[in-house]
This record gives sequence, C-alpha cells and structure tokens, in this order.
Amino acid sequence: MSTTIQAPKGVPEYLPPESATWLAIRDTLARHATLAGYGYIELPVFEDTALYVRGVGESTDVVSKEMYTFEDRGGRSLTLRPEGTAGVMRSVIEHHLDRGQLPVKLWYAGPFFRAERPQLGRYRQLQQFGVEAIGSDDPALDAEVITMADRGYRDLGLTGYRLELTSLGCSECRPAYREKLVGFLEGLDLDEATRERARINPLRVLDDKRPEVQAQLVDAPLMLDHLCASCATHFASVRALLEGHDTAYVINARMVRGLDYYTRTCFEFVHDGLGAQSGLGGGGRYDGLMADLGGQELSGIGFGLGLDRALLACQIEGVTPGPARTLDVFVVPLGGARERAALLVDQLRAAGVRTDQVFGERGLKGAMKAADKSGAPYVVVLGDRDLEQGVAQVKSMDSGDQQAVDLSTIVNHIKEQLQ
Ligand code: HAM
Repeated sequence: MSTTIQAPKGVPEYLPPESATWLAIRDTLARHATLAGYGYIELPVFEDTALYVRGVGESTDVVSKEMYTFEDRGGRSLTLRPEGTAGVMRSVIEHHLDRGQLPVKLWYAGPFFRAERPQLGRYRQLQQFGVEAIGSDDPALDAEVITMADRGYRDLGLTGYRLELTSLGCSECRPAYREKLVGFLEGLDLDEATRERARINPLRVLDDKRPEVQAQLVDAPLMLDHLCASCATHFASVRALLEGHDTAYVINARMVRGLDYYTRTCFEFVHDGLGAQSGLGGGGRYDGLMADLGGQELSGIGFGLGLDRALLACQIEGVTPGPARTLDVFVVPLGGARERAALLVDQLRAAGVRTDQVFGERGLKGAMKAADKSGAPYVVVLGDRDLEQGVAQVKSMDSGDQQAVDLSTIVNHIKEQLQ
C-alpha cells in the first residue's frame, strides 16, 4: 500500500459542517461591503515579485522573510500573494479604474500566503476578506470602512473584540517624529538585534512585547502627539464620525502594523480570546502607495479581515453564523419507486427546497439512519404501495408525525410545512 499524502504544514481546511459556518462568515462580511456600494474584484493569486517589494516594503517581515517566491519557466520571479492591497492597486492602475468615478470601492476574498511558523490562528495559507477604497482622503471614507468591518463582526454575533485606532501621520509630520524617536531609542539600553530593528524601522520597537524593553519605552515620543495640523484635524474628524456611527474604539498610540504603506488612520480589531494571534483584522490609509506603484497621487484606505481567525472567534464565543441546517428534505425510495423518487427530488430542488436522497440499496432501516444523520427536518418515504396509491409518506423528524400526502401536491405541501 502506498503512503498517504497530507496537506502541507500550516494549511487549514474547512470541511462540512464547519465549512458552512466559514462560508456564512465570508458572505456576511461581504454583504456589508455590497451594502456600501463596493464591487467585487477577483485578483490573481500570484504576481510579479517586484509588486510586493515595492508595495509592501522590503523591511517588513512579510517581504523579507515570509514570501513564497518562485521562478516560472520563463525565468520571471513570481510570488504567491502575501496580502491583497498591492494587487488591488496594480489592477486599478493597469485597468485605469482610477480615471473613472472616485473613490473606487472594491472588495475581495480568498487565500493569501505567508511562510510563518504555524500555530493556532497563524497559517501559511490564510484567508482574508478585504476592501479597498481609493481616490479620496475624506475622513467619512475612513469611518465608512472601519464601521463596515465593525458591523460585519457584530452581524456574525461577535462581541468579544475591541477596535483599536491611531494615526501614523503623513510624509509631512512622520520624518520629524521618526528622528525624535530614533534619538530617544539611541539613549536606551537595547541589545544589538533590537538596535538593528530600530535602524530599519524605529516604530517597530514600540511594539516590542518584552517587559524590560517596554519599561524603557514608557516615555517614548508617540506619533499621535506629533501629528501635523492637517493630520490632527483629519484624525479628530475620523473619531467624531466613528462616534456618530456608534462604532466603539479605543486609542492605541503604540499600534504597529506589519506593512510599510500605512499613513494617517490605522486600526486593528483585537480579540483577546484568540491568544497570541489576537489580530482579528486590520487596515488603514495608504496615501502614497498608488504613486509608489507608478499610478496617480491618489490616497486610499482599506482593511483585511482574517477569515480563519473570525471562524476561531465564532467558535470561542459559541456563535454559529449561517443556516442552522443545510437540508430541508431527505427522500427515501424503496423497491421500484426509485425513478419517481428521483423526479420528486428534482421537483423539490426546482422549488427551492434543499433536498437530498439515499443512494444505493440500503433497506428501510439503513435508509432511515441516513435520513436521521442528514439533519433534514422532513423525510419523504416512497415505496411500491405508495406509488400505486399516488402518495408518499411525509415524516416530520421533529415531532415524529407521519402522513400520506398526494404526489400531485406534495411539493407545495412541503413548502408550506417549511415556512
Ligand atoms: P494584515 O494585518 O497583514 O493586513 O492582515 C490582515 C489580517 O489577516 C490579520 O489581522 C489577520 O487576521 C489575518 N492574518 C494575517 N496573517 C495571518 C496568518 N499567518 N494566519 C492567519 N491569519 C492571518 C493586510 O494584509 C493588509 N493588506 C490589510 C489592508 C487592506 N490594509 C489596507 N487595506
């Protein structure tokens, strides 16, 4: 016997019945994007490696350590997408969407790939639902995007998360702040690896979880206290709008996002039930990204919500979005009634009734076991004698009641029962 093959390490799979919840989570979040006028974009799963190097930033862990990069047969360097924003920008520029009505509002969902050390909630193939709104720096757009994610999570039934908010400033105010932070960090007692991190991106040091480092960072200068007038006004406006939307948030002035393109508003949804991988989703503004990728000087904002982590959060909170059951009717043909039963299955499905049937010669006992396992609230048994009388036996699995129903009216009868 040959050995079995297993899924690659760090790649989660969602099988029935869990997969129904997974789909419901994705579709619920997507419904909120559709409600707000976002159109769907289906992106390539791999892109030119240069897109991520330029778009996400060479100094980030995502680009420097976690990319699945390969050479194709023509010697081109390609990379499995580690995130969605850079790909959306590339597509918007390439297809001139930025020359039409602004803002361009798009949503996407699907797998992304990061060569991380797998653990619960951290995978090498991760799934995200994301939106990007490009071409306006109106704070109302920030509030729309953030509120959309919050409403989506609430719609799933989640309550155990918080929204963290900050502003990372812009190309006007960030350089001076950065210099101030570098000066502050130079005066600290840090190990060489941390100093090296500070040289690449001093902001990352603020996120160091070690208590001995945190203790030294108590008086670190914070971007929020060094915003230029226009960033400060923008941020105040975003806050006021969120309050108007009743979207609860807390300020986290030490938030550090893992991607380099962020400017101004940044946010994260954090779920403490998820342990070390508490980031349920996150996003922010990226006002220089489009121009960095060769497009117009347009600003944008978006988010990526981890679907794997949303599912874990639902499981932790004991909420199950989606239909309570996936079948309405299970049909059991006996003896010579198979063909008529197959016709009935077709008729029920055509009427929008979710229907399955028993396959193979099972006998009444085995077939009823299968019916029970299917979870369908109604079972229709069709035997030779029923067929002669033009009826079928409709059994309610909840009450156990059974009645003979005329085959000519059975579809309507079942639809009425299901209402
Ligand atoms: P990100 O923070 O890198 O942002 O990822 C967004 C979310 O994806 C995270 O909050 C987390 O829920 C999920 N995620 C990330 N890595 C993993 C992993 N290894 N396993 C499981 N889940 C993971 C972005 O990707 C940005 N493109 C979001 C964005 C869109 N910003 C602006 N527009």
